[in-house]
Amino acid sequence: MMSAKSFGGLAVALSLCAGAARAQAKGSCVECHQGLPAGNTIGHSFTEWQRSAHAAAGVGCESCHGGDASAKGKEAAHAGMARANNPKSRIFFTNSPHTCGSCHEAEFAAFQKSAHFKELQQSGKGPNCVTCHGSMANVVLGARELETTCALCHRQPTQAFAARLEMDSAGSMVRGLTSALKRARDAGVSDLAPQDKSYRDIVELQRAAVIQWHTFKLPEVLASTREVRRRVTALLGELKLKMPAPEPKTKR
Ligand code: HEC
Ligand code: HEC
Ligand code: HEC
Ligand code: HEC
Ligand code: HEC
Repeated sequence: MMSAKSFGGLAVALSLCAGAARAQAKGSCVECHQGLPAGNTIGHSFTEWQRSAHAAAGVGCESCHGGDASAKGKEAAHAGMARANNPKSRIFFTNSPHTCGSCHEAEFAAFQKSAHFKELQQSGKGPNCVTCHGSMANVVLGARELETTCALCHRQPTQAFAARLEMDSAGSMVRGLTSALKRARDAGVSDLAPQDKSYRDIVELQRAAVIQWHTFKLPEVLASTREVRRRVTALLGELKLKMPAPEPKTKR
């Protein structure tokens, strides 16, 4: 699994709604729920939230569930909140893309262009964000799990497996490139402006591929990730040429 943070500066590029900032203060939901015995409800546990990227970013329960996190008592805090299986809930199957999308705008915009979104709105049968990101929305399914998930509804194999692997591989190549650039800088290589520019373009392309995934036009995703890999290889070659030759080992 790859976290948003692993893309370095990319997390910053994630456009977030004001709700995330407002959620910074620990609300009453967290205060009260952290003391409750682990329930046996479907969904996620308190601990799962606590360990998630959402908790780390200060996204509280109310950001997804609704309710009033400034109210102390249970009834008052739960006011306006509905269970996940209630069509009025912000996390009801067909509503969650809008809820998640209020913060993850780019992914939601891409998702809205997909046949899956249409299907979800019309028949409730398409996959939604939670299908692939788990009920705590803090995981991204790996290649094999994804293919299995697609196969739940599609008889023909999809290209999800290949696309996911390519995306993983492009992601780790970009991380390798980040280190290589740092090594070059540490070694005193000057005039890295053109390389920095190419690097920024690559990072942007990689980010775009992740967004593009959410349209499910997988041949396009594959093309983008291959382009990322091609450009990383080229830039690594350029950097190698710029690195100072290793000091010859002198015998004493
Ligand atoms: C109030 C804003 C908000 C809402 C609502 C929200 N998120 Fe997030 N999400 C965030 C923030 C902030 C992060 C952390 C980004 C980071 O680590 O840079 C995040 C991280 C993520 C990640 C990356 C997880 C990781 O391990 O790195 C995924 C996937 C995700 N959210 C999916 C979802 C889904 C699916 C939903 C709906 C069920 C959702 N989010 C609802 C703000 C939100
Ligand atoms: C003072 C304690 C308290 C506060 C504050 C509180 N809860 Fe709860 N919550 C509970 C208890 C106890 C349950 C178990 C079911 C019950 O008794 O109603 C629960 C159940 C839930 C459930 C399961 C669905 C249901 O209705 O049973 C959700 C979801 C939930 N709370 C979310 C929230 C959110 C979101 C907030 C903040 C806006 C919040 N809670 C604030 C005590 C609290
Ligand atoms: C990023 C969004 C997100 C955040 C933040 C979040 N939840 Fe949830 N939660 C969900 C989703 C989505 C489901 C529905 C699970 C499913 O469809 O499998 C759910 C289900 C639940 C359930 C099962 C009961 C139900 O309503 O059906 C409980 C209880 C619950 N969450 C409590 C909490 C508590 C307490 C917090 C804060 C500590 C919290 N959640 C934070 C998205 C979130
Ligand atoms: C069919 C599966 C699937 C669905 C449906 C889906 N995603 Fe994703 N999502 C992925 C994959 C795969 C990635 C790429 C993970 C990677 O390699 O960084 C991803 C990446 C993300 C990221 C960036 C996480 C990171 O690690 O940087 C966010 C945020 C996100 N999705 C939010 C959403 C939202 C919001 C929805 C619903 C509107 C949604 N996703 C629907 C599979 C899915
Ligand atoms: C919950 C059921 C469900 C799941 C899970 C699911 N799909 Fe779909 N998918 C549909 C439906 C329904 C349609 C629209 C009717 C059709 O084209 O078969 C569709 C359409 C598509 C299309 C055609 C899109 C277009 O623009 O014409 C592609 C490609 C696709 N899905 C890929 C995937 C991939 C890849 C996965 C796994 C990551 C996946 N689907 C998971 C139900 C699902």
